[in-house]
Amino acid sequence: MQLIDGKAVSSSVLEDCRAQIEFLSNRGCSPGLAVVLVGDDPASRAYVRSKERTCHELGIHSVKMELSAETTQDELLGIIASLNQDEDVDGILVQSPPPAHIDERAIILAIDPSKDVDGFHPVNVAKLALEEPGGFVPCTPLGCQRLLGHYGIETRGRRVVVVGRSMIVGKPLAMLLMARGDLGDATVTVAHSRTDDLPGVCLDADILVAAVGIPEFIGKDHVKEGAVVIDVGINRVEDKGAKKGYRLVGDVNFDEVASRCRAITPVPGGVGPMTIAMLMSNTVKACAQRRGIDLADLTETGLS
Ligand code: GUN
Repeated sequence: MQLIDGKAVSSSVLEDCRAQIEFLSNRGCSPGLAVVLVGDDPASRAYVRSKERTCHELGIHSVKMELSAETTQDELLGIIASLNQDEDVDGILVQSPPPAHIDERAIILAIDPSKDVDGFHPVNVAKLALEEPGGFVPCTPLGCQRLLGHYGIETRGRRVVVVGRSMIVGKPLAMLLMARGDLGDATVTVAHSRTDDLPGVCLDADILVAAVGIPEFIGKDHVKEGAVVIDVGINRVEDKGAKKGYRLVGDVNFDEVASRCRAITPVPGGVGPMTIAMLMSNTVKACAQRRGIDLADLTETGLS
């Protein structure tokens, strides 16, 4: 069994970002990311803080807006309108989920698609579905795909089962892995809470992706011998023995499943660090695209 090391792979993604940032800087540009958090959900706060920290480490200009849970829809729309106009901001991310009184769809629609580094705007969803380059793909699915690529796990012709149909992970990951090309060309099934015989469907998978948000939901009855398991879940479960009073577990029962896998992601240290790394990568891409700079020139010539 191979443990898939998301921390190591994310470091290599961030190294690529560093080189791209230098390339942009030599052309007079520097990427900027605005992260907006509404309310005080502790997990969301922690994610936002860690996004800001990574921006600082890379030298990406970072705007963090922590707004009270009482912020109105109109106030939030006003903030997005000003971030859309802000020349120093290339990427805009509103942490999901917002409080219940906020209409998340309206917020996503208000973000300029060229700054939508989350890839949630319908324009970018359509570009992914149409296999058009130049759009933004959501960060967690991109991170999962990158992990598979890094470890040389073939997707072409393989059966992939994605458990979970969210707009953030399940749907875009399915589109990404069924798209034509390297790291695509898979036969993808999307399963969810209403799927009949879920274990039977999962047992068919060469690559099983768990993105349901239920702690340790996927057990040995779901996993074929020799399958690759990607665990997207990051769940806080109470643990009185732990310093913070909780510990993080995935959607997969790791101890039950690991010995039958060809490869598996741990939680923490698997998909989690990849999401932030791909956000940085999308932000650098947004900066380059908005200024008409082709980052392929860097990879082709190695010159900055
Ligand atoms: N909440 C959990 N994952 C994400 C993400 O990738 N983007 C945003 N905006 N919110 C999230």
